[in-house]
Amino acid sequence: NSSKKSATEKMQAICELLKENVPYYDWVGFYFRNGDKEELKLGPYAGAPTDHTIIPFGKGICGQVAVSNQNFVVPDVKAQDNYIACSITVKAEIVVPLFLNGVNIGQIDIDSNTPDPFSEEDEHFLEYVNQEVSKIL
Ligand code: SME
Repeated sequence: NSSKKSATEKMQAICELLKENVPYYDWVGFYFRNGDKEELKLGPYAGAPTDHTIIPFGKGICGQVAVSNQNFVVPDVKAQDNYIACSITVKAEIVVPLFLNGVNIGQIDIDSNTPDPFSEEDEHFLEYVNQEVSKIL
């Protein structure tokens, strides 16, 4: 329906805005739970296309956040054994869950080509972004 389409367009704009304005945000995307399945599906994103459009719960950083409901900050992706590489240029990643009425329905995922770039400030900022997005869903 039209309201969902407009939410998708707004999330697309948010991805592009974040990628263009934060120098160490090199790939920005939203994943959402795929219906009733125990998997995530890629939503709007900005950056290089990824093969990982479906991620099972528990797999990779994203799949772990789907289960843990917690922010996951990865300063060095090489140090993670449960990690799904999207690009060899990526050095670090942050994933922050998105809650709708207290339910973890998805997440914002950011890859960085800069080592260890993410601080608590990014976590708080992305929590705020997700809260705002939840209001348009
Ligand atoms: N690196 C993620 C997979 C998604 S890509 O970063 C776009 C992970 O380990 O879950």
